[in-house]
Amino acid sequence: MTRILSIHMKIFVTGATGYLGGHFCEYLKNKGHEVTAFIRNPEKASLLDNNEIPYIVGNIGDVSSISEALKSKFDVVVHCAGFVSDRGPLKLFREINVEGTRNLAEAMVDTGHRRLVHVSSMAAYGDFGLGMDETYQPKRHKWFKYGLTKLESEECLIDFDLDVTILRPPHIIGVRDRTGYVPVLYHSMRKSGTWLENGKALVPVVYVGDVCDALITCLEKSETIGETYNVSSDEKITIIEIAEILHNFLGMKIPTKSWSFRYAYTLARIYEFLSVLGVKPLITRMGVMFGVKSASFSSAKLQKLGWKNTKTGAEMVTEWAIWRKEFESSKK
Ligand SMILES: NC(=O)c1ccc[n+]([C@@H]2O[C@H](COP(=O)([O-])OP(=O)(O)OC[C@H]3O[C@@H](n4cnc5c(N)ncnc54)[C@H](OP(=O)(O)O)[C@@H]3O)[C@@H](O)[C@H]2O)c1
Repeated sequence: MTRILSIHMKIFVTGATGYLGGHFCEYLKNKGHEVTAFIRNPEKASLLDNNEIPYIVGNIGDVSSISEALKSKFDVVVHCAGFVSDRGPLKLFREINVEGTRNLAEAMVDTGHRRLVHVSSMAAYGDFGLGMDETYQPKRHKWFKYGLTKLESEECLIDFDLDVTILRPPHIIGVRDRTGYVPVLYHSMRKSGTWLENGKALVPVVYVGDVCDALITCLEKSETIGETYNVSSDEKITIIEIAEILHNFLGMKIPTKSWSFRYAYTLARIYEFLSVLGVKPLITRMGVMFGVKSASFSSAKLQKLGWKNTKTGAEMVTEWAIWRKEFESSKK
């Protein structure tokens, strides 16, 4: 039977100046929980300041700074810090995603904390398919540095005596997102863009508020300890449908050209090779896979705990487009 751990919790959130971490801190505050943010750059703390959320400055690269921050007792630690990108050296991905997670776990053990909810990613599967659930055996690809290191971040936690729950979201859609799937598509359309395989791919998405709901579901239910959950919308949306919303709300031009998978993948390999010599890649294999391969994830396991998604893909993207329009007008 489900046991509610605590109604009012003291929660420590890493990555709180980031997109998901910021949303989650705000969400926790609105729900009446006591939240403390762990951040590395106080210049990015305006959202926390506006919500009167206290923060501690440190770095997940440095165990002692995390231990210092965890000196007071928290009921739960939620790990949102990470390096999300389709490019960059594998060493950097490992330092932040794997060693950073290991450092956090070490500091938790040092300071007598047990309960950790770790935000991983659907990228940890290292593969693309339809209706993938948690029983799917992940694939490891060195070129998919983000996915590989998210999987390794999960695996490194096995070494620690902690009560861990892992969440794997796909593309998280919501306001204030500046670097995720929808903003990347938006910026590519701004430059007139080019479809990959005519934009037919199904994009796995989840609403940012629904990820916050999923995190709190995990925090509150002790049966989630030791478990991994997908958190994904059941709604299907294709790249072209997202692009049409961006066209309708923001006047983006719908691309007229399309590259085949084979062409784009070959070009990405060449760019990745040249990037070692300092050339900025126009496209990467991870970008090509996200643009070409359809994927969807089953959240049936999480739904059994009472979690449900609240917005359709079109609603989430529309909300982002409206926010982006306001954001652009505020810059003028
Ligand atoms: N966005 C998505 O669509 C998505 C989908 C699935 C999973 N996820 C996962 O969700 C988590 C949050 O993603 P996001 O989109 O919110 O990313 P984000 O906006 O880039 O935020 C990442 C956060 O991590 C912090 N961070 C990075 N290195 C750090 C370090 N050495 N010490 C302390 N903090 C550090 C960043 O601090 P700065 O602000 O100082 O850079 C930032 O606050 C990540 O683990 C990601 O893998 C995201």
